[in-house]
Amino acid sequence: MFLNEKRNLNLNGAIFLFSSFFCAGFATIQVSLVPTKGTNNAVPCNPQSSRLAAINGAEPRLSAEQKFMRTRPPSAYCVRIESCSELMTRSPNLQYETRPFSVGGFNWTFILQPFGNTTSVGDWISAYVAIDPSGLVGENREVYADLRFLVYSKSKDQYWTSMDTEIRHFHQFRTTWGSPNFIQTKQFKAKDKEYIFDDDQCVFGVDISVYPYFNQWEILSIDKTVYGPNSWKLMKFSTLTRDFYISDDFSVGGKNWALKVYPNGNGTGEGNSLSLYVILSENQILKTYEKVYVRAKLRVLDQKQSKHLQKPILSWFDTPGEGFGFEQFVSFTDLQNPAKGFI
Ligand SMILES: *[C@@H]1O[C@H](CO)[C@@H](O)[C@H](O)[C@H]1NC(C)=O
Ligand SMILES: *[C@@H]1O[C@H](CO)[C@@H](O)[C@H](O)[C@H]1NC(C)=O
Ligand SMILES: *[C@@H]1O[C@H](CO)[C@@H](O)[C@H](O)[C@H]1NC(C)=O
Repeated sequence: MFLNEKRNLNLNGAIFLFSSFFCAGFATIQVSLVPTKGTNNAVPCNPQSSRLAAINGAEPRLSAEQKFMRTRPPSAYCVRIESCSELMTRSPNLQYETRPFSVGGFNWTFILQPFGNTTSVGDWISAYVAIDPSGLVGENREVYADLRFLVYSKSKDQYWTSMDTEIRHFHQFRTTWGSPNFIQTKQFKAKDKEYIFDDDQCVFGVDISVYPYFNQWEILSIDKTVYGPNSWKLMKFSTLTRDFYISDDFSVGGKNWALKVYPNGNGTGEGNSLSLYVILSENQILKTYEKVYVRAKLRVLDQKQSKHLQKPILSWFDTPGEGFGFEQFVSFTDLQNPAKGFI
C-alpha cells in the first residue's frame, strides 16, 4: 500500500528550501526525484495570506463533501510521512507534493497543505490533486474525476475519508481540485484516533476515479423512404395447397424484404384467417447488432371498390427471415365475401 519509493522530507531542508523559493515567489517544495514542472502547478505565495492562496489561479472554494470512516485503503496513491508532528508544527506554509503517479492514463500528483485553511472553527489540513496538463491533449483534453482524500487512523484501523460529492472537471485551465477543509488539525492531532502513530508517522492517501470519455457509440439513421413494394398477386387462391407462400424480394430502405402469406392461416389464424407478414429477406445480410426499424402498412387489395384492408406494423427487425405481421390478417368470411372484392 505504501510507496515503492521513499522520499525523505528533511524538514530543516524543507524550510530552507521554502525560504529560498519564497524569495522566488513559490511555496511549492520539490524534494529530489521530481523535477519542477514549471510555474504551472506552483502556488503563488503570499506570506501574509498564504492560506487564501488560490490554487492555479482559481477561486478558493469549499467543495461539497461527505466525511466518514472506511476500511478500504486508498486506490490511487498513498504517502507515509515520517516525522509527522514536525510537519504539523514547524512549517506553516509548507506544501508537500508527491512524485507523479498514473491513474486512468493521466499523471497526477497529490498535494498536502498541513496548514491549508484557517476558519473560525480552527485550522484545516488541505488536500488536492493536480493533473499533469501535458496529458490533456486531443481526445483527452478534458477529464472528469471523482476524488476522495483519506488519512489513516491507527486506533480504528480505518481511513478518515473526505468524499467530494461533485465530479471534478480537469482541463488545461483547471488542473487542480481538492478539499481545502480535508481534516481539522485539532482532529488530526487527537490522541484517541491516532492519526499520528508509531514514532510520529502518518499516512495520507487519495482515490481518483477517472470517468472515461465514451469510445463506443452507435448511429441511428432513419430512412424515410416509404415506397411500398409493387403488389404481389397470388393466383388461383382457392387452389393453393402449401402452408405458406413467400413473394419475390423487394427492396426498401437499402434492405430486401418479402411478404409471406399463409392462405390457411398460421397460429391463432389457422383455419379461420389468412395470415400476412412482412419478412426481412433470408438473403439479407446484417452487420453485427444492426437492426432496422420498420413502419409499414400491410394491405389486401379490394379489387372492386379499392376499399383496401390495411393494418400497420411497427417493429424492429434484426434477423433475416424473421417476420412481423398478423396471424389473423383477414378472416376467411371477409376474404370470401364477394362484396369485399379481395379475391
Ligand atoms: C476555508 O474554509 C472556509 C470555511 O469553510 C471556506 O469558506 C473557504 O473557502 C476555505 N478556504 C479555502 C482556501 O478554500
Ligand atoms: C506520464 O509521465 C510519464 C513519465 O514522465 C510520461 O512518459 C507520460 O507521457 C506521461 N503521461 C501523460 C498522459 O501525461
Ligand atoms: C407462424 O406461427 C408460429 C406459431 O405461432 C410462429 O412461431 C411463426 O413465427 C409464425 N410465422 C411467422 C412468419 O410469423
